[in-house]
Amino acid sequence: MEQMMIQTKSRPYPVFLGDGIIDNVGEWLLSVCNNPSKILIITDQTVKDLYGGKLESVLKAFDLDVLTCVVPSGEQSKSFETYYKCLTFALENNLDRESVIIAFGGGVVGDLAGFVAATFMRGIPFIQVPTTLLAHDSAVGGKVAINHPLGKNMIGAFHQPHAIIYDTQFLKTLPLLEIRSGFAEVVKHGFINDRSFVENLMKTIHSLNHVTSEQLQWFIRKGIEVKAEIVAEDERETGKRAFLNFGHTLGHALEAELGYGKISHGDAVACGMLFALWLSEKIFRKDFQYKSIKNWFNEIGFPVKIDETIQTESLLERMKKDKKTVHSQIRFVLLEDIGNPVLKTFDTHTLYSFLNEWRTEGCV
Ligand SMILES: NC(=O)c1ccc[n+]([C@@H]2O[C@H](COP(=O)([O-])OP(=O)(O)OC[C@H]3O[C@@H](n4cnc5c(N)ncnc54)[C@H](O)[C@@H]3O)[C@@H](O)[C@H]2O)c1
Repeated sequence: MEQMMIQTKSRPYPVFLGDGIIDNVGEWLLSVCNNPSKILIITDQTVKDLYGGKLESVLKAFDLDVLTCVVPSGEQSKSFETYYKCLTFALENNLDRESVIIAFGGGVVGDLAGFVAATFMRGIPFIQVPTTLLAHDSAVGGKVAINHPLGKNMIGAFHQPHAIIYDTQFLKTLPLLEIRSGFAEVVKHGFINDRSFVENLMKTIHSLNHVTSEQLQWFIRKGIEVKAEIVAEDERETGKRAFLNFGHTLGHALEAELGYGKISHGDAVACGMLFALWLSEKIFRKDFQYKSIKNWFNEIGFPVKIDETIQTESLLERMKKDKKTVHSQIRFVLLEDIGNPVLKTFDTHTLYSFLNEWRTEGCV
């Protein structure tokens, strides 16, 4: 088992990472939350069916009063309706300010349960118990949110968890698509922070079909280290935290345009990263070996182009609604070099031309 500390201005908190560490959840929860009145596990149907009984029994062994609220699996649960149902469940079951919420699942449950914890009685403690690879990113840093039909993560808060308990054993049941989705964020952390990590990944990972437990821990540790360094400096995204959005401006637009859940978050981000890499080479007149990276993405199974039925205009419209867009200037994270991200703004006309050029030339 490894332990890391996340240092944020609001609160430092531990991350416990290991294979088969779930049995310690009760002990670690009590070490960070003194004498909780009730524990509310918020989880999705898939995770509940696979592991709900196990987590409940581990907590009950500590004589804790445990309740479980189950939401449907998938992005559609980051909605007002589900958020409201969770709050109603908490009120009907008499949770109070001394209660603790456990977000048990992937990034969807983490974002939703975190937002419930941030707003229930003006904020109660919560603990992240992630079950997807992608959650190495979403569980760290305290951004919690739900979606609005007009945009992703538009209603949210900053609310740091009290601890993250990451048992890689859960990842054994994760479908390949979800492993790949999480892997995209691992690659992102490499691109914005560490060239040698990216090179190492490109050398050693050619398929995600048989990722070992050691490799998963390597990905998660590295991803958490990069994220931890950034949020320690910039908890509320007034500066370098924005670099974590590498690949996300186009990625979010693609997710929204296709309809949430039609493409995984990571696949959309991977496609967005490819465009951002191509654009970075163009703007900074550098050679990042775009073609090799694109071929590697293809080998891994990431989408390397956008379906022809999607209009460039529609993607632009989506990007204009992005939280990072100000005065119609669309903000992109580009790379001056691998490991050296910068922010660049584009007017819609310029971006339209670049996006069209990439779709016709960069994707082939
Ligand atoms: N808050 C942040 O900083 C941040 C960062 C990155 C992404 N996110 C958010 O994370 C979300 C995506 O997270 P995700 O990819 O984990 O999606 P997810 O939570 O929907 O999980 C993906 C699917 O895997 C299933 N699943 C979860 N654990 C499983 C397991 N162990 N075995 C089998 N199936 C399992 C889920 O039921 C779901 O169907 C997006 O909403 C994104 O916006 C947030």
